[in-house]
Amino acid sequence: MQRLTQNLNLDWDYFPYDCGVWTRSQRDETVPVRVSLPHTNVELPYHNFSEREFCFVSWYRKSITVAESLRSHRILLDFEGVMTAATLYVNGQPAGPEHRGGYTPFSHDITAFLHFGEENQIEVRVDSTERPDIPPFGGTVDFLTFGGIYRDVHLRAVDPLHIDELFVRPRDLLSCGKRLEVDVWLKNHGDQRHHTTLAVQLCHLNGEVCRQVDCPVSVEAKATGQTTVTLESLAGIQLWDIDNPCLYEIRATLGNGDSFSTRFGFRQAEFREDGAFYLNGRTLKLRGLNRHQTFPYIGAAAPARLQRRDADILKHELDCNVVRTSHYPQSRHFLDRCDELGLLVLEEIPGWQHIGDAAWQELVIRDVEAMIRRDRNHPSIILWGVRINESPDHHELYSRTNALARQLDPTRATGGIRCIWDSELLEDVYTMNDFGYDLKPPAAARYLNTEFGGHMFPTKSFDQEERVQQHALRHARAHSLIGGMKSAGGIGWCAFDYNTHAGFGSGDRICYHGVMDIFRQPKFAAHFYASQVAPEKRVILEPASYWKMGDKNGDTPEQLVVFSNVEKIEVYVGAELRTTAWPDKAQYPHLPHAPFLIQGLGSLWGSHWQPLRLIGYIGDRMVAERLVAADGVPAQLHFAADDVELWADGADMTRLSLRITDAHGNLLPYASQPVTVMCQGPGQLVGDNPFPLPGGRGALYVRAARRAGIIRITANTPRLPTQHLTIHVRPLKKEQQGSRRLRKRRPSISQASRLIEVS
Ligand code: GAL
Repeated sequence: MQRLTQNLNLDWDYFPYDCGVWTRSQRDETVPVRVSLPHTNVELPYHNFSEREFCFVSWYRKSITVAESLRSHRILLDFEGVMTAATLYVNGQPAGPEHRGGYTPFSHDITAFLHFGEENQIEVRVDSTERPDIPPFGGTVDFLTFGGIYRDVHLRAVDPLHIDELFVRPRDLLSCGKRLEVDVWLKNHGDQRHHTTLAVQLCHLNGEVCRQVDCPVSVEAKATGQTTVTLESLAGIQLWDIDNPCLYEIRATLGNGDSFSTRFGFRQAEFREDGAFYLNGRTLKLRGLNRHQTFPYIGAAAPARLQRRDADILKHELDCNVVRTSHYPQSRHFLDRCDELGLLVLEEIPGWQHIGDAAWQELVIRDVEAMIRRDRNHPSIILWGVRINESPDHHELYSRTNALARQLDPTRATGGIRCIWDSELLEDVYTMNDFGYDLKPPAAARYLNTEFGGHMFPTKSFDQEERVQQHALRHARAHSLIGGMKSAGGIGWCAFDYNTHAGFGSGDRICYHGVMDIFRQPKFAAHFYASQVAPEKRVILEPASYWKMGDKNGDTPEQLVVFSNVEKIEVYVGAELRTTAWPDKAQYPHLPHAPFLIQGLGSLWGSHWQPLRLIGYIGDRMVAERLVAADGVPAQLHFAADDVELWADGADMTRLSLRITDAHGNLLPYASQPVTVMCQGPGQLVGDNPFPLPGGRGALYVRAARRAGIIRITANTPRLPTQHLTIHVRPLKKEQQGSRRLRKRRPSISQASRLIEVS
């Protein structure tokens, strides 16, 4: 029997308090809110709130009807992530033990609790308090977890004999004997031993089959079985690489019709003894940033679109080739996009400095297993972090995490992110957070710097220009130092400013450590990262300056810093060519593109201030020009949406960014005036409104309603023209809806959604 999978994100009743399981008498007393998933238990301002505001117990409730004809199936509920602990009730009965931990998925088999052909109550008690018995808690962590059912939920109906899991292991990719080993796990819930056939197909993403292997399989009654199928002589396949992230699909099908597939890529990732990282046999210096999964206003409950966009920002706006999912496994949607883009990933277990008691440590072991089993088919993942970030040595615990990781995935190296020099190396790669200004030499043959910068130089996008510039140069310096070391590379702290506890950050619950702000808008350091891209892909010419006379210590712009990948820059002040500059390879010898440090542009205090004009050349060819106006008078409110279309699912969102600029489009960092945004149609604004622009810029989000139509949005600020935006909310496709009941015989995939009625 074919399996049926139904997305259950739509139309939950949400109770923001500990209301208990549903009873008839409650019906009149409680007024729920209708929500879609992903959902945050409370929306908050982007800063200046207390972490206590999301630490509470809430309930989610939904009714489903599973067709009588599915009675012979196993029915499972799959949760991708609930923060922090979740207990599932079906028809008032607990359907399994409380799941502890918000970052890894869990499933409950609810078959025994269901009334087939009738309405069933699904309820989830969600405890979003910072429970010391659950990682990462026990100490205080430098980030916020937020709360709610913040990732997707699915309902799955499978034959009692079904495929439970696949692990795809490409082998010998650099030889002519390329092959693929596919581990297939089968589950038999039935009372009898089953003999059947298994077909394993290697497919292109368009469904075209490249290779197929068939074999007989048998599974004992009430047991799990595992078999490994090998596909050989795959000479013609394309490798997955950062510039050509070619993906394939493995599809396994049993004789009874149950079929399961996963995407993967053929690639070989190695940290070798010579200190370098090799992708498909070629050295690649890893250059990247750490990412927290949180967003302003909505905490961690970002829909797929925002998750995917972060990967795009890291790859295309910051030219990173690697990201670390600090400090926990992140959204499937983020990782899927990393696969599609060719962005490498270091993924790690939840935790921060603290190690709890024996029961807590068992959850760590469980997290290692859950993370690796969920994610081992992602080609983007090159390294498992199997130590609690920056925790002290713990020989017994970390011997276990390493052994388990190697057993579950013999194809990838382990790392354990540490900050104590000479700590015990049980992992394959010495992954070190080195926050020194002069980075220390590698402490082991296989070495990767996993954090630098951060709290050593917190920087707000609206800090004085010199600080924002120094922040950027520190990132450039670290990557140059790492470039010159026998090290696999460096992952700076961090990509985006993030919300944190009172014990960290700037007191307003933000750590301003990002190269972009919390809204994903660039600081000068983001321009440094962007400038490392090959100019054949994109030419970058970004002054790390607002070019204003009196905003520096000592008044004059002694040094103009420009981040660029051109070979030469002509610098004009007004109409006069003042100098020609080259990248400073002496100070930054190991970067693909060193910053330009341009001296001697000083004008006299009070002199007539002139615009700056930069012209970039590659060879003799002019490839870029930048003009920075001198006057600094606000001329325009820029108002842009990242997307022009959203899905009508009640959760899809896009960012609305705001910037006040001069006549040439240059940001005015002190134009912190209020902006009022108004919205009409099937959408809702998410964010502070009116919004005083910090540093002349900021963002709100718009969330689609459950109906299609056109959202019209306007933004107003004093003395500048009103701006307008239009966003189309598209009706959901059939497979995105959970709806309508059907009594079935043998369903097609398109019929699947009609077998389970959800309301
Ligand atoms: C590190 C830690 C990060 C963050 C960073 C701030 O020690 O691993 O989570 O707190 O410091 O610089």
